[in-house]
Amino acid sequence: MSKPSIITLHDLSFKPLIPEEEVRKRVLELGEVLSAELKGKRPLFISILSGAFVFAADLIRAFDGDCEVSFVKLASYAGTSSTGEVRTVLGLDKQIEGRHLVVVEDIVDTGQTLHHFLEEILKHKPASITTVGFLRKPEAVAFPVKVDIIGFDIDDKFVVGYGLDYNGLGRNLRGIYVLAD
Ligand code: IMP
Repeated sequence: MSKPSIITLHDLSFKPLIPEEEVRKRVLELGEVLSAELKGKRPLFISILSGAFVFAADLIRAFDGDCEVSFVKLASYAGTSSTGEVRTVLGLDKQIEGRHLVVVEDIVDTGQTLHHFLEEILKHKPASITTVGFLRKPEAVAFPVKVDIIGFDIDDKFVVGYGLDYNGLGRNLRGIYVLAD
């Protein structure tokens, strides 16, 4: 049976934006870039929960070499829009001083979450920080944040899938879906 192209989550409909095959291909490419840049440095990947857990799981397996993984939980979204405030729900459990960090974000929207988190971790004097965003909405970025490696730039529209949710649903979709007009 073929998959329906339009999906419904709660009260909203979404249409395909980036198919599963393209997602997979791009994650492998990002893994190669990181493997070359951080060769022999045993980086610590820090995945920003909840949304980045799917991307981070694939990204570390696309990384060729020793690495460690940790998680922080930050929240700024309610429904389909940002609340304008970043809350730390779960903090870091590892020493980061002198470490090479790879900060993994699912999507850079306004950039507030990443900006806020980078300010926090810089205080702990890491050796280097590489920021990776699977998606970025360039038109929405409002905070001065440098994303070193980006999977895809997309339009400023609400998306779900590959870890991203709409009020809890959609994280298990293998591709990216965008709000249907
Ligand atoms: P920012 O702080 O505005 O950059 O927003 C980052 C966080 O908001 C992301 O890590 C997501 O959890 C959430 N977010 C932003 N845009 C979307 C979207 O289009 N769909 C689902 N979640 C989103």
